Amino acid sequence: MDIIQAINERHSVRNYLANRIEADKVELLKKKIEELNAAGNLNFQFKEDAGKTYNKLMNKFMGLGSAPSVIACVGKDDGNLDQRVGYYGEKLVLYAQQLGLNTCWAGTFNRENIGAEVGPGERLAISIAIGYGKDSGKPHRSKDISQVSESEKGRPDWFEKGVQAALLAPTAINQQKFKIKLKADETVEFTDLGGVLSQINLGIVKYHFEAGSGRKVEL
Ligand SMILES: Cc1cc2nc3c(=O)[nH]c(=O)nc-3n(C[C@H](O)[C@H](O)[C@H](O)COP(=O)(O)O)c2cc1C
Repeated sequence: MDIIQAINERHSVRNYLANRIEADKVELLKKKIEELNAAGNLNFQFKEDAGKTYNKLMNKFMGLGSAPSVIACVGKDDGNLDQRVGYYGEKLVLYAQQLGLNTCWAGTFNRENIGAEVGPGERLAISIAIGYGKDSGKPHRSKDISQVSESEKGRPDWFEKGVQAALLAPTAINQQKFKIKLKADETVEFTDLGGVLSQINLGIVKYHFEAGSGRKVEL
């Protein structure tokens, strides 16, 4: 499965089968996490047993309580941690999709029960539930391309593809509060329009744009 197919097929999944992730896939996930931690100055941790990470009333209500495993998204709290968490975390989410797994970013979770190791100068930003879904989720309602993008330089194919991939990105409570602008000098400007966990959302959106457009994005 290539990255575009993974972007198209990924949806948040909140109801999971009890099956644990097989040992060979756990190894692949751990290797990927190691790689992303090194690239992004992060300390993501895979917890094979999610235990009572999702015992909050809201999680039970939404169904997330059934997630067998979880990723604790920890990293050096140096000013742009949330964007790095979003960008590298979404690389991991799409990799999991390619392995046939399902995921859900979750800002609502039990910070004590997740059992993350948070070193000096680090912060636990968010969690990602992971496992085999009872279903594969469904496409979210989406804004239009014109609502989230503008251009001073026409609409080249690469830009259009980047924006389309960005619209498929998960954002907290599906806010899609971002703007992507192609400037006259052909650079791309991303604007965070606020809302819940907006910098994590923006990091996720930047990775989707990068994967869709084939153009490297700065964090
Ligand atoms: C930063 C972030 C935090 C989120 N937190 C939660 C959460 O606490 N609980 C939950 O059920 N879903 C959560 N979600 C999932 C969003 O509701 C979901 O991504 C959005 O509705 C779009 O749907 P999709 O992911 O299926 O495309 C979160 C997503 C993001 C990106």
